[in-house]
Amino acid sequence: MENRKPFFFDSTLRDGNQALRKPWNLGEKEFVFSLLKNLGVQAVEIGYPGSCDMEFDTCKQLASQAGDDIVVCGLARAVERDINLAYDAIKDAVKPRIHTFITLSPFNMQYVLQKKPEDVSKIAVDAVRYAKALIGSKGDVQFSVEHFGDCAENMPFVIETLQKVVEAGATTINLPNTVERTRPVDFVNRVKMVIDALPKDIVVAVHCHNDLGMATATTVESYFAGATQLEGCLNGLGERAGNTNLFEVAVVLHNCGVDVPMNLKEIYETALMISEKSGVPIYEKAPLIGQDSLAHRSGIHQDGAIKTKDMEKGAYRPIHPSLIGRDDEKVSFTSQSGKTAIYEIIKSAGYPITMEEAIRITPIIKEAAEKVGELPTRNITDIYFKEVFKVKGPFTLDKFTKISENKFRVEFKYNNKRYNIVGEDNGPLSACLDALRKAGFPQKLIHYEQVAIDGEIKGVSADAMTVIKLEAPNGTVVTCRGLHTSTAMANIIALFNGLNLISAIK
Ligand code: KIV
Ligand code: ZN
Repeated sequence: MENRKPFFFDSTLRDGNQALRKPWNLGEKEFVFSLLKNLGVQAVEIGYPGSCDMEFDTCKQLASQAGDDIVVCGLARAVERDINLAYDAIKDAVKPRIHTFITLSPFNMQYVLQKKPEDVSKIAVDAVRYAKALIGSKGDVQFSVEHFGDCAENMPFVIETLQKVVEAGATTINLPNTVERTRPVDFVNRVKMVIDALPKDIVVAVHCHNDLGMATATTVESYFAGATQLEGCLNGLGERAGNTNLFEVAVVLHNCGVDVPMNLKEIYETALMISEKSGVPIYEKAPLIGQDSLAHRSGIHQDGAIKTKDMEKGAYRPIHPSLIGRDDEKVSFTSQSGKTAIYEIIKSAGYPITMEEAIRITPIIKEAAEKVGELPTRNITDIYFKEVFKVKGPFTLDKFTKISENKFRVEFKYNNKRYNIVGEDNGPLSACLDALRKAGFPQKLIHYEQVAIDGEIKGVSADAMTVIKLEAPNGTVVTCRGLHTSTAMANIIALFNGLNLISAIK
């Protein structure tokens, strides 16, 4: 197992901010900075001070507020003006870092910089030397090979330049996948080549953009190839499709047994606040932080999810939601869902249900879901209540009256035929069973329980709920319920619900 501690370098306030429709002002940046401190990242790139006055002032302010537990970094192109501004902006931090960069990719050197490689190499080395001279021993210098991902054809040149950059004073070498174009493994192999070619005390970093959706994979595999500084942004903010989402990297590494220096429990709340502050909504299917990323809708998944709900490892989730401060794993019902979901949804809504009842009402609820799609819990409990407590069928109870201590009159209809029968036995339920027997509907009571209800269920005020199991002459067994303010009536209603259930099964 890898036990090197990752070093999280967050660029939300720089790469993330520069890609916002409305970049943050001082107050907003201060708020995001406080979130980053709360998460416990090791370094924050607070901005690009050379971009405008507001950015310079903001960076200066943040730098002066940072403590000794966080590296504060300002970005600068490899030009003296930018380096001077970056230095001025961050010099008051306890741990300041100048981060300078230039592209070494053949394509960008030719078409964007329009310079020869040897000239670019010299600019890189001079920039680092200049930055190091400014910052001295108070801080350090990071150098980035912009478009390192596009440097497959000129790796010897890149490595030679990096060795000179290190001699000039850079102690962190960052390898950005500025535009993600090809396979993570090609990038990672080249990260390894750089690590092997540099002195062991040099920190190698990766900074991956997510143009093709593989930034997290590339970052994680780069870590296992030896890169220690992992760059990214909260919620994956950043240019175009964004940067690596640091939350994802942290959680993968945690799952791999790495000691991750981040307060993982803060992830979900931080993600919501970043979304609010940035105005960038979180895609509902986004890994870990998407609103829907803990929802189970297929019956197969629901079954596994419910059976492993309280376990740390879940059948259908990568982590226990509490790891990142979430508690909203849910099963929700569509036509694709099954009985376990019904059981779980009704129980979570606070109503009693058995698996047998869930199985019975599932086709009815599924039919409703086929028409409207996802069914809100209220619709499900409405159907449950109708089907479980007011079972429709050929039997209708009209009146149940006490004649004497052990004699009761039962007036009911069966398929519109009226019955008026007196039953005799010890108590109302047994007397009612006797009356039914006399009318030609013998049923055997095989289980009885009654629970006190405090108040109401689904708007019906009740003091008692009867749960019984009835066995029909053909061996069919049903569980049925009755609800009423009178305990005797709760029993009789349960019995008639049972009669209708048995008729439906026949
Ligand atoms: O993506 C990139 O190459 C960058 C550099 C400035 C580090 O953001
Ligand atoms: Zn970037």
